[in-house]
Amino acid sequence: MLYLLDTANLSEIRKAYDLYPMDGVTTNPTLIANEQVNFIDHLKEIRLIIGEESMLHAQVLSNTAETMIEEAQYLLEKIGGNLYIKIPATSQGIKAIKILSQKGIKLTATAIFTAQQALMAAKAGAAFVAPYVNRIDNISGSGVSVVEDIVRLFDTFDINTKVLAASFKNVQLVHNSLLTGAHSITVNMETFDMLIEHPLTDWSVDQFVKDWELQYGRGKTVLDMI
Ligand code: G3P
Repeated sequence: MLYLLDTANLSEIRKAYDLYPMDGVTTNPTLIANEQVNFIDHLKEIRLIIGEESMLHAQVLSNTAETMIEEAQYLLEKIGGNLYIKIPATSQGIKAIKILSQKGIKLTATAIFTAQQALMAAKAGAAFVAPYVNRIDNISGSGVSVVEDIVRLFDTFDINTKVLAASFKNVQLVHNSLLTGAHSITVNMETFDMLIEHPLTDWSVDQFVKDWELQYGRGKTVLDMI
């Protein structure tokens, strides 16, 4: 199972890589635009923070296969390391995925809302497919059910493509997506932090410290024990 952070914000990426067992970062044009930066320079900054081995997913903008292919090759020239090119699951995107995967380029099919889109993207050669769980829920669909169907189709047809569940606004959606067998998740910083937070954990730790300090003194730790 892989943890990825869905952001282009450098301080969030530094924080996540400091605290959590991260496997990569996903970006998209909105996340990049929000940072108001030079795109290539910013991707290089992210690469420096996460290292060469961590996955970095960067999205193309064009709506034609020919230009998507050029964009993908440009990104590969400019950004080293473990780079995945995000391509929307449109018909032109499928064409670009078919061609680029033949060249050995690592691809993530994105903006996926149905299992059939995911299946075709996998057949075309995508390494990851990214269903947008919260966005599906926001149109009265069931994002988790779509993830479940994708996992089931990939298992049925022994497809190696991995599900990178994306678009989350709460921990329950993350939890239920993983329960269906999603291979990886990409989550914004706020929701990622909530994966580990629990008030009863904090309360329990406070109680341990209070009981300990009654016996050994305020502020004492293991380091003070002889
Ligand atoms: O990369 C896709 C993902 O960022 C979409 O998430 O939260 O904008 O629905 P969201």
